[in-house]
Amino acid sequence: MGNRAPGQLQPVFHNIYRIPLPRHAHSLLSPLFCGAFRDARTKFRNMKTHNIAVIGGDGTGPEVAAESVKVLKVAAEKFGFKLDFTDYDIGGEAYMRTGEALPDSVLEELKKFPAILLGAIGHPEVKPGILEKGILLRTRFELEQYINLRPVKLFDERFCPVKDKKPEDVDFVVVRENNEGLYTGSGGFVFQGTPHEVAVQESINTRRGVERCLRYAFEYTRKRNKDKTLTLCGKTNVLTYAWDLWERAFHEIGAADFSDIKRDYAHVDATTMWFVKNPEWFDVIVTDNMFGDIITDLGAMVQGGMGIAAGGNINPEGTSMFEPIGGSAPKYTGQNVINPLAAICAGGMMLDFLGEEEAAKKIEDVVIKITREKIKDLGAGRMGFSTTEVGDLVAAGVAE
Ligand code: IPM
Ligand code: MN
Repeated sequence: MGNRAPGQLQPVFHNIYRIPLPRHAHSLLSPLFCGAFRDARTKFRNMKTHNIAVIGGDGTGPEVAAESVKVLKVAAEKFGFKLDFTDYDIGGEAYMRTGEALPDSVLEELKKFPAILLGAIGHPEVKPGILEKGILLRTRFELEQYINLRPVKLFDERFCPVKDKKPEDVDFVVVRENNEGLYTGSGGFVFQGTPHEVAVQESINTRRGVERCLRYAFEYTRKRNKDKTLTLCGKTNVLTYAWDLWERAFHEIGAADFSDIKRDYAHVDATTMWFVKNPEWFDVIVTDNMFGDIITDLGAMVQGGMGIAAGGNINPEGTSMFEPIGGSAPKYTGQNVINPLAAICAGGMMLDFLGEEEAAKKIEDVVIKITREKIKDLGAGRMGFSTTEVGDLVAAGVAE
């Protein structure tokens, strides 16, 4: 991972979705000083550069993305690598202006980046489904981000809604399959609009899709090296085709290639019960797209809410996209009250994906410290600080 940074992209000014960044930084260096700066510039040129696409998106998305970028810049400076950010104007406003949610040309451009940082997508004036399918799901599918990685980690006891649970009790990771299941759009209507109407929504589970997800989850459990336990979360007692495939593949792959990893199984309904009753039982959970969607909202609440929950849509060989799990929270737009910590944590996950593990760890450590020592509440408007102040606190901590 982390060795796929593409070459510097040329600005495409005819593309209205792209916000060209001012590129006059070099002209600030007078030719007179070039000699004096030669060593520094050589060092700078030899630094690893990661090109990042930033989609602020809708509502409070741009505000939280900006705080994440602020922290990432400080981390890059501190840990000796370079980040080159390119902003994309994608979201509800752009859709209403142009009638296109995500133009093919933009999608093609996004494929050239190793990573995308996403604020939030969702606009109150756009019919539900259009932006979700047209931007978020399309990116997940077309960029083959077949893993949705969602860590559930409680940073401070005060923020856990479950009585008597401590940070050591809530520390697990959900590996959600992100390209198949009920999300492919397979299905249809028969006799639509009549009393005989039939609606079919099919869950697609391919051996290849299931296998690559399971392999990722096993590898991840091994690398995480906590309890070395991978729990398959399914519904083998009712969905006897889909989960039969998942269960067979799980045990075959586990027995053949991951004998060091303990295999466990839990039905999805029981999993929700245990998230609340005994979250400490979990290390890594692997599940399908729909179950993963549902249990990770519960997971986010157990770890303190949407203000802190981050995730990554991962293509281990391609372009991955990191995002706070929460939505665009339109009612808080422009008020400087939304919690940016989830977006900051998403930025940290992105650095980890890019191979900047030390910097990623530092961001998480600082977020934990600030959450414990400074933040009053993780909810919007109740943090005791503004959005930008929280970003400043983390940035200062990372710089230390
Ligand atoms: C999520 C969201 C999306 C999903 C929606 C917005 C399409 O709920 O990222 O969990 O269902 O995957
Ligand atoms: Mn969801």
